[in-house]
Amino acid sequence: MPGFATLLPRPVSVTEAPGSCAWPAPVAVRAGPDLPAEGYRLAITPGRITLSAADPAGEHHGRQTLRQLAGPDAFRAASLHGGLVLPCGVVEDHPKLRWRGCLLDVARHFRTKAEVLRFVDLLAAHKLNVLNLHLTDDQVWRIEVPQFPKLTSVGGWRRSSMVGRHDGPERDGRPHGGFYTTADLREIVAYATERAVTVVPEIDLPGHARAAIAAYPELGPDPAAGWEVWTAWGISTALLDPSESTVDFFRAVFDHVLDVFPSPVIGLGGDEVPGATEAHGRLLRTIAEHLTDRGRTPLGWDEVLDTGPLPPMVIGVWRDGAHGVRAAELGHDVILCPEDRLYLDHRQSDHPDEPIPVGYRRTLEDVYRYEPDLAGPRLRGVQAQLWSEHMDSVRRVDYAAFPRLCAFAEVAWSSGPRDFAEFLPRLREHHLPRLDALGVEYRPLDGPHPWQTRPGVPGRPR
Ligand code: ACM
Repeated sequence: MPGFATLLPRPVSVTEAPGSCAWPAPVAVRAGPDLPAEGYRLAITPGRITLSAADPAGEHHGRQTLRQLAGPDAFRAASLHGGLVLPCGVVEDHPKLRWRGCLLDVARHFRTKAEVLRFVDLLAAHKLNVLNLHLTDDQVWRIEVPQFPKLTSVGGWRRSSMVGRHDGPERDGRPHGGFYTTADLREIVAYATERAVTVVPEIDLPGHARAAIAAYPELGPDPAAGWEVWTAWGISTALLDPSESTVDFFRAVFDHVLDVFPSPVIGLGGDEVPGATEAHGRLLRTIAEHLTDRGRTPLGWDEVLDTGPLPPMVIGVWRDGAHGVRAAELGHDVILCPEDRLYLDHRQSDHPDEPIPVGYRRTLEDVYRYEPDLAGPRLRGVQAQLWSEHMDSVRRVDYAAFPRLCAFAEVAWSSGPRDFAEFLPRLREHHLPRLDALGVEYRPLDGPHPWQTRPGVPGRPR
């Protein structure tokens, strides 16, 4: 019979009792006003399961815990057999951090709506609660904006892509495209809400905006230059022209975004702006104020701290931790997503068969050992990042994300000290079978399956 020691992320407290309870079984749900936000208390006896929850998210998390206790087959899409049992006892649990996020870059490589819905399920199974959806970049624009149809008819695809990471002119010659309609996005938001996941959209400006410039050249630095949706990876030097008409354009874009996404936090990018001027900073500030005036909090990457006075924001600190301290001192909330620790597109080992090895080597253990280097009320939480230049399929996303995202879930949720030697067997013996049952094509602990390698495709390790 499965036991409480198998749970992932690890709960705050567990009291075991003799006996077991057949599963599935009716669950009596009660309000739990004594519990912290997102908290739950599960009392399992041979004849009865009572789930007390602080809020709908707490109820959701309690149900995920029940599913884990029932064993891996409880994660299959249909039940295979009866005879599942739960151990008896009491679990009391609540998260350590209130923002437990994962960024999914659907701009560089598109993920279909069905794939995004599946990813929401996987986040929810790990009690992660924010999907930061990176919708626009130099290499494609993915959100339909009815007022500006060329954003998706022109900006929604590119004619070719760089294969792996290199400086040469070679491309694959294969068109790549796709975008989400308004109805698709409303569906994703509703589905995520039912699973206690908030979808935080990101529209990146004033850099990483070349797809928008390709669609509407008057938004760019030189409208006659013939900018096309970029076929390379990297940082394009084509920035938005910080004119009043560009500001008006993006006010209208964000008004649409606000209509589709109820999230209290809305991403506006602000990262990697080569040659940024004071006017680019003003563009960013004006859009930030536009969001604030409409009751939302802008989320920007830590470079925005250099643009001058800003309204209260959430700052995604991806470079060094000093930016987190600075953001907090300036009165902003902070999400820690350090590139050298939590970028899951980076290679997982020095194994010679690691597919398209880019970035820092970040093992499962490195992720598990990550400790936020900021404390206090300004720390909202932590976020893992899945940039997708080198993830051209959902199978590649599975490989990059799992099982490192399982380790990240414990960093974000579990209180108290963590011990990798305790985590690893729990993951191997109890949690990987759950991922197998879910159909997740994770990276095996000792290296990729032959079909997960990409022989001959260059990476760029650091
Ligand atoms: C980032 O990695 N440019 C936020």
